[in-house]
This record gives sequence, C-alpha cells and structure tokens, in this order.
Amino acid sequence: MVILITGCSGFIGYHLAKEILKKNKKNKVIGIDNMNSYYDVELKKARKKKLQSLKNKKNFIFIKADIQNEKIINKIFSKYKFDLVYHLAAQAGVRFSISSPKQYIDSNILGFYNLLECVRKYKTKKFFFASSSSVYGSRKNNLFFKEEFDTDKPSSFYAATKKANEIMAYSYSSLYKINIIGLRFFTAYGPFGRPDMAYYKFTKKIINNEKIQLYNRGNHLRDFTYIDDVINSIILLEKNSNKIKSKFEIFNIGASKPTSLIKFLKIIEKKLGKKAKIQNVPLQKGDVIKTKASINKLKKITGYQPKIKIEDGLEKFIRWYTEFNK
Ligand SMILES: NC(=O)c1ccc[n+]([C@@H]2O[C@H](COP(=O)([O-])OP(=O)(O)OC[C@H]3O[C@@H](n4cnc5c(N)ncnc54)[C@H](O)[C@@H]3O)[C@@H](O)[C@H]2O)c1
Repeated sequence: MVILITGCSGFIGYHLAKEILKKNKKNKVIGIDNMNSYYDVELKKARKKKLQSLKNKKNFIFIKADIQNEKIINKIFSKYKFDLVYHLAAQAGVRFSISSPKQYIDSNILGFYNLLECVRKYKTKKFFFASSSSVYGSRKNNLFFKEEFDTDKPSSFYAATKKANEIMAYSYSSLYKINIIGLRFFTAYGPFGRPDMAYYKFTKKIINNEKIQLYNRGNHLRDFTYIDDVINSIILLEKNSNKIKSKFEIFNIGASKPTSLIKFLKIIEKKLGKKAKIQNVPLQKGDVIKTKASINKLKKITGYQPKIKIEDGLEKFIRWYTEFNK
C-alpha cells in the first residue's frame, strides 16, 4: 500500500509512521510536515531523523510541505496515488487557540479542506483523520463519553475546528461515497511526546527545579492514553475497516481509565524521586474538567484492549526524556 501520513514529524504521526514501516515491509509511507515552531523544532527533526534511519528507510519519503498549499498537496497526491491517508497534521493545543485562533483556521480548516478535496479528486480509498476528545466540551454528568453524544458546545476554538472537521468529512463522505474514519484522541502521552502537554512540562520542570503551574489544583480528570495503545487502535481499526458498514464513522481512541492530574503528577514525582514545586492557579479558559472515553465501539470492531498502565507508561516516558535530554 502507498500511505500518506500528514504531520509525520509530530508526536502521533511519527509513532504511526514508525509502526507501519516496521510492521509491513511492502508499505510505502510518504510523510509530510511543515516543521512549524509551535514547539521545539529540534524534537520534530529528531523524530524525522529516526524515521529516516529505520531499517526499512527506503520505504519512507519525507516531504516538507504545508497542507495550506493547495498546489503542492495536489502535486503530491497526483504523484503517489495513495491507497490510504492518515491526516494528523493540525494546529494542536487548546490554550494556544485562545490567543491565536487564526492558525487554527489556516491549518485545521483550510488545510483540512485541501486534504478532503485531494482525497475526492484522486480517489483515495480510505481517509482517517484526527479529531479530539475536546469536541465533547464540558459535561455535567459523570458518564463516559460516547461517540453519539452531542458535541455542539465546544469549550475552545481548537475543539470547534475539530468538530468542523467531523462535519466537513461527513459531507464529503456522503456526497462522494468516500470511506472516512474520524479518530477522537484522548490525551496521548509517551516517548517523543509533546512539550506543550502537562506531563512533559511537569517532568521538565521537576528535573530543572522550576515551579509548576497547577491548574484547578490538579483536580481535573484526563483519560491519559499511552502512545502504543493509540497506535495499536489506529492500526487495528484500519485492519478491521471491512467490518464497518457505513462510509463514515467516528471512534474514541482512549484508555477508558480517567486519572486526575494530581495523581498523574504524583506518579511522575515518584518515578523521578523528587517533589514538584507547585504554584496553584485557576482553571484556564477553554479547559474542560474531565475527559472519559467510552471505548465500547472501538472494542466491538477491533477487539482492542488498552495494555499500558499509567505507572508503566510514565516510566517509559521519563526514561526516554532523560536519555533524550542528556
Ligand atoms: N496528542 C494528543 O493527545 C491529541 C489529542 C487529541 C487530538 N490530537 C490531534 O491529533 C493530531 C496529531 O497530534 P500530535 O499530538 O501528534 O500533535 P503534533 O503537534 O505533535 O503533530 C502535528 C504535526 O503537524 C504539523 N503541522 C501542523 N500544521 C501543519 C500544516 N499546516 N502543514 C503541514 N504540517 C503541519 C506540525 O509541524 C506537527 O509536526 C492533531 O490533529 C491533533 O490535533 C492529539
């Protein structure tokens, strides 16, 4: 298969490309990324370098490109005739979307439209795209989030663009009979993770004796999902996609084990053998109090079971972090 992964130098894109290249020696992966500086570009370069030095590296082609550039994206699609597209490139981050909404329009709306158009024009067989648990917004009850819940009240502009992606993708799927799967990721974490996310910042600041800003006393719940479980879910979904009867579906990709941020922090402290210096600050605009994934739909199609416990996942992350920053 010839596979496109957008955002291949990003956290999830890198891990997905690596796994696909490792699993099947016949797969060809074209990875594109604009290598923007939303967070440390060196980390993006390191991920890219890793992919370019895999045993199977001849099956990986990296193209530095921006998904906003319709001409270049068309050229890439026309050259490679993809069987499968994983669209992961986006402007991520809830908090950044409060101060810089325009970047979310550019990458998440215009860029997303360019991808959809190419998938239609070049008749790609399957299109997977990244949505987010943030589309569920702030919920009053204590239920695990199910895919069929209403998602019309996003708490952040980032979430609004992800919800817009789902609706745009639905219309393309029904108008042009394209097979599309939306993936609602729930707080992925692990080695080569994102420096803008809490677990990364906590680890870095504890090691450097810096103060941690703890929002809402760390009382919010997140359905932290170890990256290997995330990648396994995506691969299983693709493998079992013949069991999916409709052209368009959305799946939660989570661990279904919500944990408070304060507990998460305590595990990091324990693993590092060092206490954090905490400065309590109020909940930030756009943040939601909890995310809890129901993964019954995913399990039913794929038989997926999350494997990695938080203690083990954080240990792997910290081991990678210390090695990477030596
Ligand atoms: N990591 C999570 O917990 C999480 C949770 C929910 C949703 N998501 C979504 O999953 C996807 C992957 O997330 P991630 O954590 O790997 O984020 P990431 O920021 O590490 O990866 C995104 C990559 O896309 C690239 N990119 C951004 N805009 C681009 C553009 N206009 N053109 C080309 N490349 C561009 C970036 O340079 C980056 O390398 C994103 O769509 C994100 O919104 C992630």
